[in-house]
Amino acid sequence: MTSEVVYAPAEPAARRHLIAISDLDRAGIERLLTTAQSFESVVEREVKKVPTLRGRTVVSIFFESSTRTASSFELAAKRLSADTMSVKAVGSSVDKGESLKDTIQTLSAYGPDVVVIRHANIGAAQLTTRYTTAHVVNAGDGKHQHPTQCLLDLYTIREAVGRLDGVNVAIVGDVLHSRVARSNIQGFAAVGANVLLVGPPTLIPRGIEKTGVRVSSDIRDIRDADVVYVLRMQRERMAEGANFVPTLREYAQRWGVTRDRVTPTQIVMHPGPMNRGVEISADLADAAQSRILRQVQAGLVVRMAVLYDLVSRPYVDTPDYAAAAAEVAAR
Ligand code: CP
Repeated sequence: MTSEVVYAPAEPAARRHLIAISDLDRAGIERLLTTAQSFESVVEREVKKVPTLRGRTVVSIFFESSTRTASSFELAAKRLSADTMSVKAVGSSVDKGESLKDTIQTLSAYGPDVVVIRHANIGAAQLTTRYTTAHVVNAGDGKHQHPTQCLLDLYTIREAVGRLDGVNVAIVGDVLHSRVARSNIQGFAAVGANVLLVGPPTLIPRGIEKTGVRVSSDIRDIRDADVVYVLRMQRERMAEGANFVPTLREYAQRWGVTRDRVTPTQIVMHPGPMNRGVEISADLADAAQSRILRQVQAGLVVRMAVLYDLVSRPYVDTPDYAAAAAEVAAR
């Protein structure tokens, strides 16, 4: 592979997006996980930077709050030497009533290569593709999709368990309001993992069994899983007056994931931010079997892989893409 190929200029015809995890087939998911793995060597170095996206621009627009996704996309772009611009709704002209369309068109006037967007409305990332010539990455749209969260979760599970095929994952809690759950149900199925959803019937979408998952309202059923994936109780998405659970205290008593409800060999995950003492006990979140901070670290290399893949992959003139990515990481 030659570096000229990697740095070749983008063409609008090559524009691709990551809006939903279903945009990737199994081979695409595995390609990104392998690329992310190759970037581990970059983040472990003293000088944590490669010139892969030098001269490229990554714009992040967050209309909804974020700690992990926003920071890791920004750091991922910087580790790849891209120029970055980060705009948050608070403090931008969105405060003055500027629309999504005008915000995207305004920032796209600077000619970014990638636009990363988070928005409270379902479909906002898809809509963004109409108003920019950049590649678009969905960093979470309402309760629809969060594809890079799914990728980093798959990366973490593969590392912890050693495989994805046939792994049993129990997803516990507020599935109804969770874009993470929607992406993970699709993504886990795509790689051959088995999913059990556990929670109060009011927080499990009706008819979800048709997607191939199993459903239980008995928290004891999580004990058969290799991985217990705890979801945040999304109080901000629960309409006022709708009684999804009687009280958070009662939810914690019936469905909270605690040390006595898992075995010491089970892997425990949570996308964050956590409500400690509600969906997960504080001591379990900090236990050796918890991979919650490892998920955060995986978010960095996975998002490096996504940015690299969108911008550079069409131009990598080699049949051995993994070797090409490894060579980029070795620079
Ligand atoms: N998991 C996740 O999306 O976290 P943030 O909201 O902090 O980005």
